[in-house]
This record gives sequence, C-alpha cells and structure tokens, in this order.
Amino acid sequence: ALMLLLTAALAYLLGSIPFGVVITRAMGLGDLRQIGSGNIGATNVLRTGNKPAAAATLILDAAKGGIAVLIARATVGDDAAQVAALASFLGHLFPVWLGFKGGKGVATFLGILLALTWPIGLLACATWAAAAALFRISSLSALAASALAPGYLAFAGYSDKVLLALLLAALVWFRHAENIRRLKAGTEPKIGKKTA
Ligand code: G3P
Repeated sequence: ALMLLLTAALAYLLGSIPFGVVITRAMGLGDLRQIGSGNIGATNVLRTGNKPAAAATLILDAAKGGIAVLIARATVGDDAAQVAALASFLGHLFPVWLGFKGGKGVATFLGILLALTWPIGLLACATWAAAAALFRISSLSALAASALAPGYLAFAGYSDKVLLALLLAALVWFRHAENIRRLKAGTEPKIGKKTA
C-alpha cells in the first residue's frame, strides 16, 4: 500500500509539470493561459505560431504520462501502472503549480495508452491523426480518439484496462465542455489558427 501511495504521488508530480506553460515562457512566447483558448496543451501552443514549441509540448506531455506508467510497472507491477496512469493524468488536469487549473489531458492520455498497451496507443494516435486530417480540428480529434480507445481495448481483449480508459476518456470529454459547445455552434477553430 505504501508503494502504491508513493507511486501515485510520483506520478501525480510528473503529470503536473505543465510543459506547455514552461516551454512557451522559456521561449519568450508569452503566457500560454493568455493565448487562444487559454489551455496549457500543445494545440494552444501551436496558436503562438511556433511549431517546435508545440511539438515539444505534445511529446513531453505524452512522455510524462508514459514514463509514470513505465516506472510504476517496472518497480511495483501492473496494478501500480494503472494507479500511476490515473495519478499522472490527474496531475496534468489539476496541477498544484497552477492552482489546480490544468489541461485537457489529450497528449497525456495518448502517452499513457502507449505505455500501457502500445498497439492500442498507436491505434488511438492514428485515430486522432485521421480525424485531424479529415476535419483539421484538434478537439474533435481528441473527442473521437478518447471515445474509441476503451472500445479498442475491449475489442482487443485488454479487458483489465477498459475501466481505466473509460474513466480517462470521460475526463477528457468533461474537460472539453467548452470545445463541444463551440463545435456545436460551428465556431471551433481549425488547427493552427491563431484565435479561439
Ligand atoms: O489538447 C486539447 C485539444 O483537444 C483542444 O485544445 O486549445 O483547442 O481547447 P484547445
């Protein structure tokens, strides 16, 4: 139990590193929370016009979730990996450093899935990419990929991970409430557009 608690705490801390905010500030691009949607994710970093900064945010926000899972699995075991997945994800959504006002969890969700079961992680990334290629809208792609991921897991026989994926997907959708409103109103911006 102590190991699980330590795992959760470490994973939360890893997940709570707001790479988007750190990178945009370090590169002199301003305060990310005053830009576009105000979100701390890679999609919003891209609205600064700086593609390397957005790519770095995407990779690091994904990596922190994946690394939390891999460390937990290697040191404690499979159950700890799921605890670490949830804790790192919650760290990204509710980081203590930003007054618990964090991100929407898309990159971190994908990184977690890649570390839990990489084929399903790849499939979820491909779903995101396919939807993005079709519609050029980041939030819509995230909603599609997160909604389908639990189904992929169930279909491929990873039944022990379905509940976790459902919970994470529900949180992704919950965090996209404003995006869903804009999607319905037809005002959600395309990827890379500078306004939100
Ligand atoms: O990664 C979050 C993305 O799905 C939406 O971001 O900035 O358009 O709200 P944003």
